[in-house]
Amino acid sequence: MPLIRLTKPVLFLLALLLLALGTHRKIFSDRGHSVISPSRSAMKTKDTVPATVDNPLLSGACGAYSELRSVNFLHKSISESICEGVAAYTIVDSAFPLCRLKQHLPLVLTEGVRAASVQTFIRSPLTQRNVSSFVYSSPDFISTSIRKEHIFEERNVRNMQRIIQKLAAKSPVTFVDVGSNIGVFTLSMLDLGVPVIALDANIRNLIRIKLSAEAVEPPHKLHLLWNFVSRQVSLMYLNFPKDCNIGGATKFGRAVVDTIPVMSSTADSIVPLIDTKLVVLKVDIEGGEGEFFKSAKKLFESFTIPVVHMEWLKKHMSEEERQFMISFFAGRRYSPRTMKDLTKLINISHTGYQGDDLIWVHKNFEGGI
Ligand SMILES: *[C@@H]1O[C@H](CO)[C@@H](O)[C@H](O)[C@H]1NC(C)=O
Ligand SMILES: *[C@@H]1O[C@H](CO)[C@@H](O)[C@H](O)[C@H]1NC(C)=O
Repeated sequence: MPLIRLTKPVLFLLALLLLALGTHRKIFSDRGHSVISPSRSAMKTKDTVPATVDNPLLSGACGAYSELRSVNFLHKSISESICEGVAAYTIVDSAFPLCRLKQHLPLVLTEGVRAASVQTFIRSPLTQRNVSSFVYSSPDFISTSIRKEHIFEERNVRNMQRIIQKLAAKSPVTFVDVGSNIGVFTLSMLDLGVPVIALDANIRNLIRIKLSAEAVEPPHKLHLLWNFVSRQVSLMYLNFPKDCNIGGATKFGRAVVDTIPVMSSTADSIVPLIDTKLVVLKVDIEGGEGEFFKSAKKLFESFTIPVVHMEWLKKHMSEEERQFMISFFAGRRYSPRTMKDLTKLINISHTGYQGDDLIWVHKNFEGGI
């Protein structure tokens, strides 16, 4: 099938598709209008839009949410200059392709992010090396932790570094960081010299990782993917919580709705980007975990995945998704363990499990991590 641009007929079909889906209607109605409304089409004539006219920020709202707010991502000058090989918001073979960020992004994006960043460093837990890190200059949970402690979730990063180092000593391994935020895990794994694929729905996070990685010599093998995970071909806007936490952004209703449309993609579409047999996964996407594993069949068939570190928050998953993920991993011979003690099994069928994250370990690697 040839490339289909988001022309009016296609947008109309997309609109019908979205209206047919209750959840997506909610996503769009939360925002008050959609990318397909006339006001948006009118915006296409300029590459910037007034920040506050139809999309006011709460007074005193978080600085990080204002970043890139005046950029019109639907304008050709932006949409054609973000993703490798294809214009953003373009459907190919009835889905949005992965948006792999281009080496050279429009300056309005990179400089906009740079201007709202502070350059500090992450202390790589295993090597104790200082790794350059661009963080939000406005208050944000993870950025503040990096500025003060030079790390976030140190134990988890260290555990994952240990596992990857052990595996990589025997055979090349790719680290896939789903929900990378500003790259605490991604940059720490790059520090070990392994290839990394980072996916995030917030392009401000990905551009920070790009700036951070580029500050390091020599350039690393890194793919930055800008998509949210869903089997439904759709666009959505992130919703941020009131407390300014960038990492709390979801596609579900929250306090502040973002201005940047994000394209859906599936876990399996990452497969062609991976060129090692071994893959280590981290998945932390604020309730999108169920969708990720529901679209990850090929990923798990194509590679050997010794461990999967993931967020396991009851409030973020439906009972159906919880059961799906338990069967998904049990059926592939994984057992769940705590990050505190990798030898300690979690009784995952016990719904009262109180932890907020865990690691699934494949049977064949129980002795080797
Ligand atoms: C890391 O940065 C800190 C603070 O600037 C500095 O004191 C320390 O020597 C650095 N460590 C390395 C290994 O470069
Ligand atoms: C795990 O939890 C379930 C549900 O609470 C319980 O029935 C079962 O006995 C537990 N298994 C173990 C090994 O503790």
